[in-house]
Amino acid sequence: MHIVHISVEMAPIAKVGGLGDVVTSLSRAIQDLNHTVDIILPKYDCLNLSNVKDFEFRKSYSWGGTEIKVWFGKVEGLSVYFLEPQNGLFSTGCIYGGKNDGERFGFFSHSALEFLLQSGFHPDIIHCHDWSSAPVAWLFKDHYVHYGLSKARVVFTIHNLEFGAPLIGKAMTYSDKATTVSHTYSKEVSGNPAIASHLYKFHGILNGIDPDMWDPYNDKFIPVLYTSENVVEGKRAAKQALQQRLGIKTADLPLLGIITRLTHQKGIHLIKHAIGRTLDRNGQVVLLGSAPDPRIQNDFVNLANQLHSSYGDRARLCLTYDEPLSHLIYAGADFILVPSIFEPCGLTQLTAMRYGSIPVVRKTGGLYDTVFDVDNDKERAEAQGLEPNGFSFDGADAGGVDYALNRAISASYDGRDWFNSLCKRVMEQDWSWNRPALDYLQLCHSARK
Ligand code: ADP
Ligand code: GLC
Repeated sequence: MHIVHISVEMAPIAKVGGLGDVVTSLSRAIQDLNHTVDIILPKYDCLNLSNVKDFEFRKSYSWGGTEIKVWFGKVEGLSVYFLEPQNGLFSTGCIYGGKNDGERFGFFSHSALEFLLQSGFHPDIIHCHDWSSAPVAWLFKDHYVHYGLSKARVVFTIHNLEFGAPLIGKAMTYSDKATTVSHTYSKEVSGNPAIASHLYKFHGILNGIDPDMWDPYNDKFIPVLYTSENVVEGKRAAKQALQQRLGIKTADLPLLGIITRLTHQKGIHLIKHAIGRTLDRNGQVVLLGSAPDPRIQNDFVNLANQLHSSYGDRARLCLTYDEPLSHLIYAGADFILVPSIFEPCGLTQLTAMRYGSIPVVRKTGGLYDTVFDVDNDKERAEAQGLEPNGFSFDGADAGGVDYALNRAISASYDGRDWFNSLCKRVMEQDWSWNRPALDYLQLCHSARK
């Protein structure tokens, strides 16, 4: 099968959040199963080109009164076509945030289909994502399906229904198949007006993570490489390196890590509460977070300053986006907290487990589908062929997060052997695309029937 993704994000060269990770990791998994995958991406001026191999100019074409230059390169072994319209739409220094994002990505969606047509591509599946490449679905059905691309079917994936619901609703109507990124989120949003009348073609397929891009046995950002066999040594060295790098006390205290966009979705009040609770219990906290909203950013800058003066040896808030530091936190933390109010899938809890860190999560969306509480979810885990792997809570108040966090911290203080065996166990669980890629391929096949 030949699958073309039309996406505005792609890790590691143009990543803002999980969408970028998924486009790359899903594509690599499908390519490994001997299918052909191409990716079409805007050529932003802020692309991280050092991660693009064999980058070269390919051709120009015209569309919408503009010349569009096409560049080609290999990213993590994937073929990527970069579209650079000469009207400057992608020369804004950022991926999102221009006031005219709708116009930018509408133009991109249309010019990507035009590129496929003018270049004689005949894909089986055109896969678009979220509001940003949603226009592909209806532009294709209105126009391109009649001209040369008729063989293709459109798959549309909702990574987050919070943004651009009207565009998402329109893509739901026009796509052949639609997915979202976990089974529970698919149920949570099934009553949404954008989705309710399309349930017959709507499926929840869980995201995976890329086991090569996130691999504690092959990671240039951590001091000692490790597998589940030497997880204790590997994580001890990573914790020390993290503590030294951030200037907090080098001590074997329970360390809570938080790696997140700081937005309402991510449960900001619960994050703040958990920071306080962990410090009360003599633990350490490292937060790596970036807030698109300046008010939230200022709020956290104030909190960071406050914590720096009262708990300087045990807390550090890094209010930025920093991929290398995220690796060291995944490896060096004992726990990764994800207290989201809603979470379509969530990748940080999966990456945490890959590095032997224990997830502490709110039971919602993909967090519910991937984290099984050691005290409460044994049967639910067994039904999936798994053993429990973390701590979780219901509700959206401080009591819930305390319930999960207190048990997690106590376990790490009181039952070191038990806790170490839990770290080993979560590392051995498979949260890659191995299973979900097969569901995805089945969906693509059924779209073509
Ligand atoms: P979302 O897409 O809603 O932000 P996900 O959990 O699906 O949430 O994906 C977030 C991705 O972004 C993960 O790969 C995580 O490691 C990364 N990430 C989030 N915030 C930061 C940050 N401040 N610095 C580095 N990486 C981050
Ligand atoms: C979105 C969601 C997140 C999901 C990611 C990748 O950004 O917020 O839950 O993991 O997309 O699908």
